[in-house]
Amino acid sequence: MGLHIRSLAMLVILVRWPMIEAQTRARALDVLLQDYTFRAIDRPKTGIPYDASPPSNLTGIQLSALRLRSGSLFTRGVHMYKEFAIPIGVIGYPYVERLVLVYQDLANWSTTYYSLPGYLYLAPILGLLAYNASSLSAKNLQELEIHASEEPISIEFTQVQPVPAGLVARCVRFTLTGQIHFTNVESGNKCETYEQGHFSIVVESTTPLPAPVQQPPPPPPRHQGGGNGSGVIIVGSVVGGVALLVLLALLCE
Ligand SMILES: *[C@@H]1O[C@H](CO)[C@@H](O)[C@H](O)[C@H]1NC(C)=O
Ligand SMILES: *[C@@H]1O[C@H](CO)[C@@H](O)[C@H](O)[C@H]1NC(C)=O
Repeated sequence: MGLHIRSLAMLVILVRWPMIEAQTRARALDVLLQDYTFRAIDRPKTGIPYDASPPSNLTGIQLSALRLRSGSLFTRGVHMYKEFAIPIGVIGYPYVERLVLVYQDLANWSTTYYSLPGYLYLAPILGLLAYNASSLSAKNLQELEIHASEEPISIEFTQVQPVPAGLVARCVRFTLTGQIHFTNVESGNKCETYEQGHFSIVVESTTPLPAPVQQPPPPPPRHQGGGNGSGVIIVGSVVGGVALLVLLALLCE
């Protein structure tokens, strides 16, 4: 059976494609939000957070910019920047004299940009990204790396939905390169990190959360003309089956 490497590579791309696409969309959002956040720094004082407005088609997202000297970040940290507590010892690299910490609360846009199949979000996605502060009109800036060299940065989520019975809440971190890391939740609502990125609290689940309000009972099944639903399922599985056959044919070419 001749298994073509090229076909296999194609299959991998096909399977990974939705993730690559999501990653591209999330990075494009970071670029857009960096621009909008930098615009809010009208009087560039260091150490003061400036709240910014998102583009009007992204209403709901909350943004803030905090400009700091690298030296001050390292020696003093930031007691509380929104939900983030930044300890002493945080280093940015490559070295810049001043940096901007961009804060994002993706609120009701969290699942649009960071969909995580098989998991439910109990909190919004919060982002913390570092940029060179030398030019406040700069666009398409590459993020600096930041690294907590002593204590971790901690994120205290203020409104976490209750954990559904029998499930375990986990902290999730998305790196800028699209990797996903899970860690334990501390004290019910805190996550810890040594790096920048996007953070939330999730539970692993294949079933939707129980609705908070009583749902009306489902309508009784219709007996006449009620075959539509199953017709759709049959068509769906035929299409799926054909796609699978095509893939198999490619592999065993
Ligand atoms: C989020 O909420 C805002 C209103 O606060 C609304 O305009 C926007 O369409 C919502 N976004 C999504 C993805 O539902
Ligand atoms: C930071 O920005 C300034 C001004 O644009 C530039 O001269 C400097 O090289 C940048 N530093 C880094 C590390 O990118």
